[in-house]
Amino acid sequence: MRILVIGGGGREHAIAKALTKNVAVEKIWVAPGNGGTEAFCENVPIAATDLEGVLGFCKKNHPDFVVVTPDDPLALGMVDLLEDNEFACFGPTREAAKLEWSKNYAKEFMAKYNIPTASYVLCKDSGEAKEYVKTCPIPIVLKADGLAQGKGVVVAQTREETVRGCDQLTSKGDQPILFEEMLTGPEVSVLCFTDGKTIVPMPAAQDHKRAFDGDKGPNTGGMGAYSPVSVYTSAMAERCMEEIFRPTVDGMVKEGHPFKGVLYFSLMLTPDGPKVIEYNSRFGDPETQAVIPLLNSDLLNIMLATRNGKLDRAKVKFLDNCSACVVMASAGYPGSYEKGKVIVGVEEAGKYGTVYHAGTARRGDNALITSGGRVLCVSSLGRSLRQALRNCYKGVGAIKFEGAFYRSDIGSKDAGAKEE
Ligand code: AMP
Ligand code: GLY
Repeated sequence: MRILVIGGGGREHAIAKALTKNVAVEKIWVAPGNGGTEAFCENVPIAATDLEGVLGFCKKNHPDFVVVTPDDPLALGMVDLLEDNEFACFGPTREAAKLEWSKNYAKEFMAKYNIPTASYVLCKDSGEAKEYVKTCPIPIVLKADGLAQGKGVVVAQTREETVRGCDQLTSKGDQPILFEEMLTGPEVSVLCFTDGKTIVPMPAAQDHKRAFDGDKGPNTGGMGAYSPVSVYTSAMAERCMEEIFRPTVDGMVKEGHPFKGVLYFSLMLTPDGPKVIEYNSRFGDPETQAVIPLLNSDLLNIMLATRNGKLDRAKVKFLDNCSACVVMASAGYPGSYEKGKVIVGVEEAGKYGTVYHAGTARRGDNALITSGGRVLCVSSLGRSLRQALRNCYKGVGAIKFEGAFYRSDIGSKDAGAKEE
């Protein structure tokens, strides 16, 4: 079997690596891939958003299966285009992925199907939003209606911050702004395989979105994750299935857009029960790099079963271990940063876990260099979260590149909770 994976992040590296475990896999292409996928796949220089480029590649090379994981190509309808051309894909259609790419659609959907989420007010343009900020309740959360790569949300504690946040979100063109009630409580990400009928949740993960220790600094794509999460008990998992996962998956069938792929529930466990912060229509990054190493079944078989509506027959088992990953980023990320710094110590780090590459590339002389903001992550397993984290940080300590930074407190709030 020959597979094309779309994307070039740590998530795609982790997915491609897990796919190689199936003996039927003869070849994996990754478009565009990174310095890590290059070692065992063929990187294809086509951007993940280049729908025509990907279709052209498929017509020429006939992959048996295409795995589409980044948000942009899903929102652009890559799965629809490829499936229309008879290329089997893992991932939701554009209309199913709307749960992620339109926050307003997701909010209306949740209201219709009685799925718990923060209450909200929608301002349809910047004029309305600028008027509303003068009197809205404080604190409040502002969200731009569309994909914003983690930069479309402002959590405002004061009126001043609210006004500034509104200016920031409306500065890049007029767009609807959602004002949401601010929820409190621990956050968890639950990624579920679903074929539109069966729902198989993966162990819950926690991301660390802020750039610096102590949840300080700007929001990023995610600086590290761990799994499982102790506050997400089996009783909570049952409750989320009943109140959130099942109504969402059934609701999408009723809407005429059954969701097939990975549906990622970003949840806040509030004093009033679990509530949806947002939906993502795909695997998370870096949650995937923490969760996929726990998978003790064949990822390709699960993905094929999901695509073919037979997830009820697939074996999906996870190890009873703890897992964590710690991201190393370029100085300046998530703002501007320099590229081209030589990375050393990746092999040494491999003694303590798996190094998943993201913003890496090979220079002409074959040296591994930085080529992005989130450069790579070290992902490790352990019998306890503490042990997993110890392994991650040993690995991180072995890797050096100029300007490297990482958070030193990934999982620390939970690490005492599950003893070795
Ligand atoms: P999102 O991009 O929607 O996941 O939001 C980014 C982050 O903003 C989340 O991980 C939360 O920490 C925070 N956030 C989003 N919505 C809310 C809300 N209604 N209440 C409190 N925090 C929120
Ligand atoms: N880690 C957050 C995301 O994948 O959206």
